[in-house]
Amino acid sequence: MDEKSSMNRPSIPARVAPPLMLATWSFSASGCTSAWSSLAGGGGSLDAVCTAARAAESDPTVDSVGYGGFPDATGRMSLDGCVMTAPNRCGSVCAVAHHLHVADLARMVMERTSHVMLAGDGADHFADALGIPRSQLLSAGARAAWRKWLAGEAPATRTDPGGDSRERHVPHDTIGVLAIDTHGVMAGACSTSGLPFKLAGRVGDSPIPGHGLYVDPEAGGAVATGNGELIMGVSGSFLAVECIRRGATPSAAVQEVLQRIERVYQPAAHHQVGIIALAPDGRWSAGALRFGFVVTVADESGVRLVSPEHVLHPEGPSAL
Ligand code: GLY
Repeated sequence: MDEKSSMNRPSIPARVAPPLMLATWSFSASGCTSAWSSLAGGGGSLDAVCTAARAAESDPTVDSVGYGGFPDATGRMSLDGCVMTAPNRCGSVCAVAHHLHVADLARMVMERTSHVMLAGDGADHFADALGIPRSQLLSAGARAAWRKWLAGEAPATRTDPGGDSRERHVPHDTIGVLAIDTHGVMAGACSTSGLPFKLAGRVGDSPIPGHGLYVDPEAGGAVATGNGELIMGVSGSFLAVECIRRGATPSAAVQEVLQRIERVYQPAAHHQVGIIALAPDGRWSAGALRFGFVVTVADESGVRLVSPEHVLHPEGPSAL
């Protein structure tokens, strides 16, 4: 592997004893807090990751997931979600226009159908058939942001409330959650409203197993967040898990994904990708192209925010 001297030196624990949860961005902290007591008490990892995703989906202040997420260029909301516990056990929905809790819906696809992914009207009709009520997905704040964008104003950015002065939240940030329960079972979930003001019909990495999320109990799990277009061409989450399967540490796996993205795309200054990789024994690492990414960790020591071990371009500005 091509070691880059510009990688940050780690200051995070290399291993957390299960049960544990790891999730992207500080806005995942309240959901991880909600999920933690059940997980710590013997609850299942799939329940935990779905609980964390639901919290972000319901939070109108999170402008990249669920209600509060920014719409596409036509002002229409579409949500994507995915869950996974093994290569032969995953479910996904994309371009959902009328139902809020897309990680739960993805779980229903996994548990109640013989399919992996349902898209668009089909996914909404599936939810209707399950008796899940339709929701208004476009918040007043997101509509106002879209109107500003139509008028030529840049989308709003805000300081990540959990971050330091370098850490910024930009509105294309999936919640990705990984958990290992007391039985040693790993699960993952993703939920996103996708790239803000995207072309109608665009779907990113989050709902696609292997791209935004991958879990294999034999090797580990990974979640990715940020510009999906940069993650999809390298199968970012699958790549991280495959590196671990072939003997890499989670730290080296994260470096490999970031360096592969760098080689393939030469990302622009505004591009950001964050990735978390977790081994079945609780060893984990995280990294990002630039400052701005933060990981929520929940374990027996509590719920806290941790800077990623690796930042590929520590010398550059945060992705804004
Ligand atoms: N990572 C979320 C997306 O690009 O849609």
